[in-house]
Amino acid sequence: MSQKLLYIETLGCAMNVRDSEHIIAELTEKDNYALTTSPKDADLIIINTCSVREKPVQKLFSEIGAFKKIKKEGAKIGVCGCTASHLGEEIIKKAPAVNFVLGARNVSKIKSAVAKDKSVEIDINYDDSSYMFGEYRQNDYKALINISIGCDKECAYCIVPHTRGEEVSIPMELILREAKKAADKGAKEVVLLGQNVNNYGKGFKDKSINFTALLREVSKIDGIERIRFTSPHPLHADDEFIEEFAKNPKICKNMHFPLQAGSSKVLKDMRRGYTKEWFLSKAAKIRELCPEATISTDIIVGFPGESDEEFLETMEVVEKVGFEFMFSFAYSPRPLTKAANMPNQVDEEIKKMRLLTLQSAQLKIQEAAHKRQVGKVEKILVESRDGDIYFGKTGSGFGVKFESDKELLGQLVDVEITKAGRHALSGHLI
Ligand code: SAH
Ligand code: SF4
Ligand code: F3S
Repeated sequence: MSQKLLYIETLGCAMNVRDSEHIIAELTEKDNYALTTSPKDADLIIINTCSVREKPVQKLFSEIGAFKKIKKEGAKIGVCGCTASHLGEEIIKKAPAVNFVLGARNVSKIKSAVAKDKSVEIDINYDDSSYMFGEYRQNDYKALINISIGCDKECAYCIVPHTRGEEVSIPMELILREAKKAADKGAKEVVLLGQNVNNYGKGFKDKSINFTALLREVSKIDGIERIRFTSPHPLHADDEFIEEFAKNPKICKNMHFPLQAGSSKVLKDMRRGYTKEWFLSKAAKIRELCPEATISTDIIVGFPGESDEEFLETMEVVEKVGFEFMFSFAYSPRPLTKAANMPNQVDEEIKKMRLLTLQSAQLKIQEAAHKRQVGKVEKILVESRDGDIYFGKTGSGFGVKFESDKELLGQLVDVEITKAGRHALSGHLI
């Protein structure tokens, strides 16, 4: 069989990045594909899509058009991921150049999807949670590992439960096996992935297996020096979990803690399951038990019905907690979600203004946090290099650049932070 080339473009979150790795593993190990970075040379072009906001979905069809123009004669185009799950056959109807559609929950069926023209596999109840994929990883030092798939929450704005289906936790033995394999191949850091990682174990008969227990087991693996996870849900942040986070030396001291909104009324309309006070008390507990930790968050502005006063409550929580990192979004109505049909949608201009207000306040908080790092000596996992300039992250999540002519990729090194910029820090190797 002659070698075929695969080009894959990955949009969306870390879960999609991991799904793309699984797709690559299946097609390179069990079929005869090799990766290419050039779509015009590829025999198969895959777009692994995200559906969480409207813009990337609109972009998908123009991208398919662009690939259709440049692709080789006979090359196939496949659409995978969350937009595949939610639009299904519609994608092929709208863009007949697409050869197959494979949903986010159906990654293990990639080989048969490629083989069967116009196939549409989007069953969100399909359970590929104990399916073992091959070995491919984009980054050998930092291994992404799924611990659960799907989501059982019903946040009113969110399409994910409709694209990734019911929440299923992956058996602990399989997770530990993956982590050990990664460590044997040189990974120093693992990133445990799920929509609500700290709800891990939901549905297991053995109730002693929860996220805290998983963290303890993963931290026993030789060679794994750092553990990260994303995303925990504030509702499930019990004391046991926060204490383990604070005291386990292998757990990186960055907690991603998605606030979404600062007003209890908006949180209730969003169906997040916690109040402003609950969130603030959990954040205070993290700061108290682990003063060196950073807290990052996700915020949506302009959710239907959000008043100026309610938006100001978000600003108030942001100031109080002082999130070191933030991902902020203007609310985007999504099909299949409750909020899309709410009557009191917020004007686009108002959303834009609120987003700007939030982001400029955040920039100040972030700059101050950056300045506080100057003078510290931090362990950095060296992730990439450009000539003699290396880049890596501190345990608490700050990106740091430094110069060296040694070979340092994949190593944990000590760096003294000497300068604070807006987006990254710089330092020198010790
Ligand atoms: N499971 C994670 C979120 C995954 S989606 C959690 O509960 O935190 C990633 C982020 O996208 C969310 O945290 C939210 O801030 C944002 N998001 C989701 N739906 C959105 C929408 N309809 N409009 C704007 N932002 C949205
Ligand atoms: Fe979406 Fe809410 Fe589930 Fe997160 S917890 S994926 S925001 S429904
Ligand atoms: Fe991730 Fe986007 Fe799907 S954020 S879960 S790829 S909708």
